[in-house]
Amino acid sequence: MRDKFIIEGRHKLKGEIDIWGSKNASLPIMAASLLNSGDLILDNVPPVKDNLTMAEILRYLGLSVEFLEGDKVHIKGEPKGYRAPYELVSRMRASFELMGPLLAYFGEAEIPYPGGCRIGLRPVDLHIKGFESLGAEITVDKGFVCARAKKGLKGAKIHLDKPSVGATRNIMMAAVLAQGETIIENAACEPEVVDLGNFLKSMGAEIEGLGTSTIYIKGKKELKPIDYYKIIPDRIAAGTFIIAGIMIGKDLVIKNIEPEHLQSLFIKLKEAGVNSLQIRDREVRVKGEKVWKGIEVTTMPYPGFPTDLQPQMMVFLSLAQGTSLIVETVFENRFLHVGELLRLGAKISIDGRTALIQGVEKLKGAPVEATDLRAGAALVLAGLVAEGVTEVLDVDEHIDRGYVALEEKLSALGANIKRVSYEEGKKVSDLSL
Ligand code: UD1
Repeated sequence: MRDKFIIEGRHKLKGEIDIWGSKNASLPIMAASLLNSGDLILDNVPPVKDNLTMAEILRYLGLSVEFLEGDKVHIKGEPKGYRAPYELVSRMRASFELMGPLLAYFGEAEIPYPGGCRIGLRPVDLHIKGFESLGAEITVDKGFVCARAKKGLKGAKIHLDKPSVGATRNIMMAAVLAQGETIIENAACEPEVVDLGNFLKSMGAEIEGLGTSTIYIKGKKELKPIDYYKIIPDRIAAGTFIIAGIMIGKDLVIKNIEPEHLQSLFIKLKEAGVNSLQIRDREVRVKGEKVWKGIEVTTMPYPGFPTDLQPQMMVFLSLAQGTSLIVETVFENRFLHVGELLRLGAKISIDGRTALIQGVEKLKGAPVEATDLRAGAALVLAGLVAEGVTEVLDVDEHIDRGYVALEEKLSALGANIKRVSYEEGKKVSDLSL
């Protein structure tokens, strides 16, 4: 059985929503807790599917992991194994980020090669080159990437060809216990990299340059256990609700956010003529807008416009006055949602990594398929603004990876949305609300 959302569009969103902790910061920080041999509470870890998968892998490796009320996770114990299981790792690419901490802890690690991904090839060559620079020997055996550094890792200067978020974090987690200094050049500056760095620093790691493109790490013999760490708010979830609020909100307050992390979104919204956002210390108040205009958006590594908000922005620009361009520079195949948006009446054409969007007056409900996590979120936004009923399929496989009970959160704000299970062969029903 699969799940889908059935959404009747055009119901205004109103009220308050608390944004949960960042999934993309939770994942590496849970992986890094392999290096914290104490009794740890991680706060602000939403029980989204990806985090549940990471918890299962940590349990398999010998830790005790328990989700508690209020988005807290209790992690304790020490890892007993360094080989991660294929069935779990294949569900989620971020599990490759267990390699850094396992290699640092055991001097060896074996992780299944992450499979392909719908939004692009997403190789791990930069991770591997980084580990090799730190002195690990890498082999591939029966589909597993095996890294060994029996005599320990040695600090090195590593220049990343691209500012990869995952490679920066993986290398950082390995380098905190290496001998000597590691310098990562062309490092990713994303807030989720900084959060992981701060977590490692709170355990006594010596790291400088977080949030810049050069990170310096002085290896330590050991780290000290800590008992509490709170993860940053999810900027992508916040951005998703902000865009929803502009398109179909009446008066929506999005709370528990870090506005600094959303600057690139705010700048683009302003350029499109959205002047009603009230940005405060930890919240944004959004009043629905009637009209906005087409703009150009290019996705870039942080502090550029995030690729993870590109599909949601495309829905917004589909309803803008005039023409817009979206250039996707981070992933090579991240326009799978375009075909689905066309089904809802959007006018979009693709040329390589550029999407040309001609604003339309309205979208019209139809059955559509979520092709990845953020594309799925974008289709939900489209369903909320579209005339009539939209069915978003494969919600459990994609949207649930990053949003907990999205339908309940949206219903509480006034949306007309429900979750329905269906047999895989019978995707589209004639169910209506
Ligand atoms: C992370 C985020 C993801 C986000 C992405 C970009 C998590 C769990 N996921 O993914 O939501 O969309 O950052 O902001 O935090 N690349 C290589 N070789 C490598 C590694 C990456 O060529 O070894 C390429 C990728 O194919 C991609 C680009 O670098 O084109 C950026 O990928 P990366 O920053 O590594 O993304 P992830 O860490 O996988």
